[in-house]
Amino acid sequence: MPAQDNFLIKVEGLVKSYGATSVLKGVGFSVARGEVHALLGGNGAGKSTMIRIITGAVHHDGGSISFRDADGQVRSEAEGRKGVTVVHQELALLPHLTVAENIVLPRYASGMSLFDRKRAFDQAFDALSIIDSDFARQSLHRLVGSLSLHEGQMVEIARALSSGAELILLDEPTANLTAAETERLFTVLRRLTRENGLSVVFVSHRMKEIRQIANVCTIIRDGRTVVDRQPIETLSDADIVEKMGQLSASLPVETVAKPRKRDGESLTIREEGLEMTLSPGTILGVAGAPAGPHTLIAALVGAARAKRWTVSMTGWPERFSSPRQAAHLGAGFITGDRWNKGVLHSLPIIDNVLASRRVVRGTRFAGTAERIECFDLLQALKVKAASLWDLPNTLSGGTQQKLLLARWLGVPSRLLVLEEPTRGVDIGTKKEIYQLIRDMAASGTIILWWSTENAELMEICDRVLAFDTEGRCAGIIDHDELSEDRLAELTGMAA
Ligand SMILES: Nc1ncnc2c1ncn2[C@@H]1O[C@H](COP(=O)(O)OP(=O)(O)OP(=O)(O)O)[C@@H](O)[C@H]1O
Ligand SMILES: [Mg+2]
Repeated sequence: MPAQDNFLIKVEGLVKSYGATSVLKGVGFSVARGEVHALLGGNGAGKSTMIRIITGAVHHDGGSISFRDADGQVRSEAEGRKGVTVVHQELALLPHLTVAENIVLPRYASGMSLFDRKRAFDQAFDALSIIDSDFARQSLHRLVGSLSLHEGQMVEIARALSSGAELILLDEPTANLTAAETERLFTVLRRLTRENGLSVVFVSHRMKEIRQIANVCTIIRDGRTVVDRQPIETLSDADIVEKMGQLSASLPVETVAKPRKRDGESLTIREEGLEMTLSPGTILGVAGAPAGPHTLIAALVGAARAKRWTVSMTGWPERFSSPRQAAHLGAGFITGDRWNKGVLHSLPIIDNVLASRRVVRGTRFAGTAERIECFDLLQALKVKAASLWDLPNTLSGGTQQKLLLARWLGVPSRLLVLEEPTRGVDIGTKKEIYQLIRDMAASGTIILWWSTENAELMEICDRVLAFDTEGRCAGIIDHDELSEDRLAELTGMAA
């Protein structure tokens, strides 16, 4: 049998439409045993759709999928799918069950075996220990609903890694992980591919990670395969961006109404032993494991009562009582928990985009002016939506992220707090978002930007406040002294 035929999975001529929208127009994609295969493409290219079709969650309209066993023999789709597991772009855990139950329940899905509690907990512990034994000890009995986004991501990955699958599809698994966790995940993936012949399909918009972990890549664009199984080292970043159909040059964005230049006032944030004054237009990065940044951010936007932090600015209380009060007083917030706290799933795109404007202005309905405003914002962020009245769930993951960004773009604010604002946004658009945020800063808005992507912090921030793994402030780094090493050192997350 010729080697190139020994694919674990081969997708040919895959076609899929949603109503009048043609999403996949004949995609080809194949995965060999033991490889880490990067599946690349801009927002809305069709990556998640193809993954859903491979797992059987979504039906395709045309084309074929074939699975083969280790001897190259064709298997039925049902048989083949048993060997496939997936970590979806948005988490799919059951919040009212414990971490342990979430990990082991899929193994009992056949309904033929009895639930042996002790054994189940042991299995779940082993699964979690693959990526983090401390986390395994602390979290096994916790309800999934009480986990942070980032802890939930670890549980999903552990579940997939321990499932015994031959093929694991990871749709942006690292979007919520810190650098150290990503490194641990990669170590496990490398071991499983080498020792067990596991195959991995890896979707990410972070070039550095893609290069660290993947051997080959496939790029899809507008529902077609434009690069098929090419060794990743033969393509430069610029090649990849170009193949994805994106111009890397950042375009000036005139369509968004720029906030008026304000005289601006400095903001002081305080914790025991730390005081920082941020002058208007400062972009302050926040780095480190989520514990510390989350406490600071929740305090800043009135999302939680955190006694540690206080702010001072004319006309502001020491602590906001709610995000609504914060919004009224000129402090905007984009949550990092897009799915649970960001997107308004039952409201159309237009309401999603205009939500914070309506809070700030006290308006309720989308008149013509608002429709035009929404349209311009979406254009600035390159969002293609069939209609402003479609639901956000008809948009791709990265595109939903852009809806959240659009909410605060151009809204005159004194402070804008961003949690992973470019999560899942493709490389081409990221640069434009950096520019849009810089424009807001230039008009006097103070920006606070938490990111787990160090490269991003280095590119955009004037200063970075680093937290260690215990959630304590570890130091402040000026732009000129920013480096991956320095960030890793201070955050205690040396890879
Ligand atoms: N349920 C749906 N109804 C209508 N259109 C949909 C639906 N799901 C996806 N689409 C459309 O299919 C296209 C591909 O979306 P998909 O989620 O596969 O993109 P993606 O490559 O995963 O992008 P991202 O990098 O942003 O996650 C998009 O244009 C999206 O709007
Ligand atoms: Mg996707």
